[in-house]
Amino acid sequence: MNKIAIVGAGSVGATIAYATMIRGVAKQLALYDINRAKVDAEVLDLNHGLQFVPMATLVGSDDISVCADADVVVITAGAKQKPGQTRMELAGSNVELCRSLIPQLLKVAPNALLLLVTNPVDVLTYVVQKLSDLPARRVFGSGTVLDSSRFRFLIARHLNVAVQNVHALIAGEHGDSEIPLWSSATVGVVPLTQWAAPGHSRLTEEDRTRIFDDVRTAAYQIIQGKGATNYAIGLATVQILEAVLYDEQRVLPVSSRLEGYQGISDVCMSVPSIVNRTGVETVLEMPLNDTEREGLKRSADTIRQAIRTLGF
Ligand code: 2OP
Repeated sequence: MNKIAIVGAGSVGATIAYATMIRGVAKQLALYDINRAKVDAEVLDLNHGLQFVPMATLVGSDDISVCADADVVVITAGAKQKPGQTRMELAGSNVELCRSLIPQLLKVAPNALLLLVTNPVDVLTYVVQKLSDLPARRVFGSGTVLDSSRFRFLIARHLNVAVQNVHALIAGEHGDSEIPLWSSATVGVVPLTQWAAPGHSRLTEEDRTRIFDDVRTAAYQIIQGKGATNYAIGLATVQILEAVLYDEQRVLPVSSRLEGYQGISDVCMSVPSIVNRTGVETVLEMPLNDTEREGLKRSADTIRQAIRTLGF
């Protein structure tokens, strides 16, 4: 019986729990939060829907032992962005949270994979890997799975094709230095650079600039309007959980430790990776043009700089 534990019952943690329930990814789900009233209320509300979903048990507590023996622990706890604040500005306080959380988690769930969602996710993935001393493949972050889905949605809407047929990635930081991989994007098997379907829009340079700008600023827009982002990250996280628990070998742009990848080392960030029951099984080499290669390096430098500033 697969067990998922979610740390943090805020809007992201609760939405991941909800999406996990609906998809029936795990038979057992545990929600942990230091706020007893909040975690109890979320679990009560979710349990009232148990009849309608393919899941067995859902428990919650302010005692970390509720995460015992989880196969995957999803970490969503921490300070969240205020309107106008960058993800990187959360680094200091969320690293401190990880310092106290990780040893406790390792005691109760020593065999778990750790999936980071808390921001800045790339920095925290690196820090948690160091703090836990777990093999790099077992500690990874949701990274740019969400940004890539925003990217695919915007391209699909512009071209008027199904989002499932758009294959396009955002790589690097889940944050301001992320980069769009236009050169390898396809619609079905048609390279986006050759897209010219009759009756469907083309993609001009201005369109590209606008679309990427909308991806990069999406979270700022949503946070401005409703204080947090939760639905798409909930679904993106469940896709990662399915890749793990169903041993799918799915290619996803999760954040993981890179060593000697396109000249990039000693940093965590997102590149396409094969995800399975063991975590991040392989990071995939990919075709990049010069702009993209330079952009990836700059993004890595940005994340590494933040990591160093924190003393790691
Ligand atoms: C997002 O991109 C805030 O990182 C979160 O939705």
